Amino acid sequence: MSPSSTSPSRPTSLVTGASSGIGLAVARLLVERGHRVVGTSRDPDRLSAQDRVPGVEYRALDLDDLDAVGRFAAGLLADGVEVDVLVNNAGESQCGALEELPLPEVEHLFRVNVLGPVHLTQLLVPGMRERGRGRVVMVGSMLATFPLAYRSSYVATKAAIKGFAEAARFELSPHGVWLTTVEPGSVATGISGRRTVHSQESGPYAAGLRQMLHRLDAAERDGVSAARVAATVLRAVEADPPAPTYAVGSGAPAVHVLRRALPGSVVERVVARRFGLGQHGVRG
Ligand SMILES: NC(=O)c1ccc[n+]([C@@H]2O[C@H](COP(=O)([O-])OP(=O)(O)OC[C@H]3O[C@@H](n4cnc5c(N)ncnc54)[C@H](OP(=O)(O)O)[C@@H]3O)[C@@H](O)[C@H]2O)c1
Repeated sequence: MSPSSTSPSRPTSLVTGASSGIGLAVARLLVERGHRVVGTSRDPDRLSAQDRVPGVEYRALDLDDLDAVGRFAAGLLADGVEVDVLVNNAGESQCGALEELPLPEVEHLFRVNVLGPVHLTQLLVPGMRERGRGRVVMVGSMLATFPLAYRSSYVATKAAIKGFAEAARFELSPHGVWLTTVEPGSVATGISGRRTVHSQESGPYAAGLRQMLHRLDAAERDGVSAARVAATVLRAVEADPPAPTYAVGSGAPAVHVLRRALPGSVVERVVARRFGLGQHGVRG
């Protein structure tokens, strides 16, 4: 959706997690494209000038609190903000062996990465449907397609959000509202430093987890830029209609073609080798 194509007027976009990384880059690009942009942060008051994009209106949103998501959407409505484009970008990262993940932490991750964005979508989609136009972009992860050991909770949240988008797409597209998922590979945003790691120091998974993290951090440092992912999000916003999924970074889309061509066991071994999990993460 661009000011000149499907939308007769200046589109209004809402970007969650616009204070850093991919969300900040998306907010900047949408401002450049002429959108009115509302961006969220859990605490916009603490954002420095460097964390802010000129032209973006910042509002507070904590996706961990589903009642707060409801109040946030009601506030937009009360202020007459009609969202045409929702970019569900905000998310957290978590690592740990399945056996050692504390259930309250898994619940937290599902609220932030899945239930919060899904609830926000539920609240904003009726307006888009009534106006006959809208775009919802879920920022997923390539890990939903290439699952990785010690990332089960994160992988599951990204697979879940993609599932919501892929299925609801069929409900909403007849009303002019398109859902799509952008799946980045490794992106150099510094998210590694903000990731929560659950590990028992001398437990049976400690060595494998350490090895995976070492490779994962290196992959993130060498990852594509947030600006490149933002360009892909923009493609999804402006395409008419957008594809169900877009992949960017870490060799995408070529690795996705190979994923479809190769047997699952081969793909599993390739992923394991990339993350140094030959002896720890998978057998053989
Ligand atoms: N970086 C990668 O390699 C990579 C790869 C694949 C997918 N992704 C996905 O891309 C998205 C953005 O990642 P990023 O690398 O740009 O991360 P980032 O730099 O850490 O940014 C995360 C954003 O989410 C917001 N946020 C964090 N917790 C939140 C919560 N509980 N409620 C509301 N907002 C919250 C943060 O805002 P405040 O702290 O200001 O609240 C921040 O703006 C995430 O969904 C991530 O899973 C990243």
